[in-house]
Amino acid sequence: MDYVLMCQYRQCRKHRENKVDMNDLTKPFKRLPVALIGTGSYVPERRLTNEDLEKMVDTSNEWIVTRTGIEERRIAAPDEKTSDMATQAARRAMESAGVTPEEIDLIIVATVTPDTFTPSTACYVQANIGAVNAAAFDISAACSGFLFALKTAVQYIGCGQARTALIIASEKLSHIVNWEDRSTCVLFGDGAGAAVLRSGTGIEGDSAVLASDIGSDGTLTDLLMVPGGGSAIPTTEENIQEKLYTLAMRGNEVFRYAVAHMKDSALSLIERTGIKPEDVDLVIPHQANLRIINAVAQRLGIPAERVFVNVHKYGNTSGAAVAIALDEAVSTGRARKGDIILLVTFGAGLTWSSAAIRL
Ligand code: ACO
Repeated sequence: MDYVLMCQYRQCRKHRENKVDMNDLTKPFKRLPVALIGTGSYVPERRLTNEDLEKMVDTSNEWIVTRTGIEERRIAAPDEKTSDMATQAARRAMESAGVTPEEIDLIIVATVTPDTFTPSTACYVQANIGAVNAAAFDISAACSGFLFALKTAVQYIGCGQARTALIIASEKLSHIVNWEDRSTCVLFGDGAGAAVLRSGTGIEGDSAVLASDIGSDGTLTDLLMVPGGGSAIPTTEENIQEKLYTLAMRGNEVFRYAVAHMKDSALSLIERTGIKPEDVDLVIPHQANLRIINAVAQRLGIPAERVFVNVHKYGNTSGAAVAIALDEAVSTGRARKGDIILLVTFGAGLTWSSAAIRL
């Protein structure tokens, strides 16, 4: 191969032998293909059903199912951290990929519910799994976070700056939900999903991330946000009383933008890759609301049987939703080796993203 692999892990014998030099950015390199080699996911044990919610707020199973498609969601244990769920999903993804912790160069965790503001959740995961050769950091893109992480990892691997990347999306949304607000508390759940990416072969038919797309519109930050707890509205007793550290959403508007941006992002990807909607074996959309999923699929011209849905089991787990769905699709055989899958997401920011992957 006529590329030079650049890497910061000079202490690693394998990398030294490959003449890796992260400081040498002068030599030309060829963009490397990137393959998806493993997936994993984790959801907490505790189920919170719509019937349970009927006892907590003024809602009904019928309203929740008809408006969202959600039947139950998982809730993390009080002492279960975002990094704990991320670690479980990561271990499963590494096992399915057949990689050791030492082989991981890069760990990216997408989350809006980090264990701590700093250090990053990715650093906790790194310590938990013993990925001693990895650089680790978090990204924040809400429900689009997993595909933002994927795009970032693809750039690192594609440029030869990493060889094996672990991307994870993990959320403990139950921690930032206002359990007295029926318009939001019925929607969200906890969980984590992960994938391992590695430089691929580039051989036609082999696994490859074919293309990815990310986008944002920062003029619409107020549609979906956690207003308090940061530097804008610091944590005070009064702000805590007013529940300013919980999710606030203008659901109707979010719904409209979600459908429009998911459709546009997916279509732009389809156009760029030359893939036709009929070539897509499975669409894995963000699992926020069954009505959004159906509307996007309809606009893409993809029939329901080629759209993966698990929102009824987990609700909206933000960035983790598409990652959990990807793992379930692979582990249940719904998506098989060689299949072309189209992932498409939408979230707070506003942000949106899509990716086309041949498994
Ligand atoms: N139970 C019963 N009634 C309810 C509930 C509830 N849980 N929640 C709201 N209602 C009522 C409202 O008060 C309203 O009553 P009113 O007509 O008397 O005022 C009525 O139901 C209709 O409310 P709408 O908000 O118009 O209901 P809609 O059909 O739009 O559904 C929903 C609301 C489900 C939130 C929808 O707008 C939606 O899914 N939006 C997208 C949300 C989303 O995907 N967010 C995540 C983005 S990703 C991320 O980054 C986290």
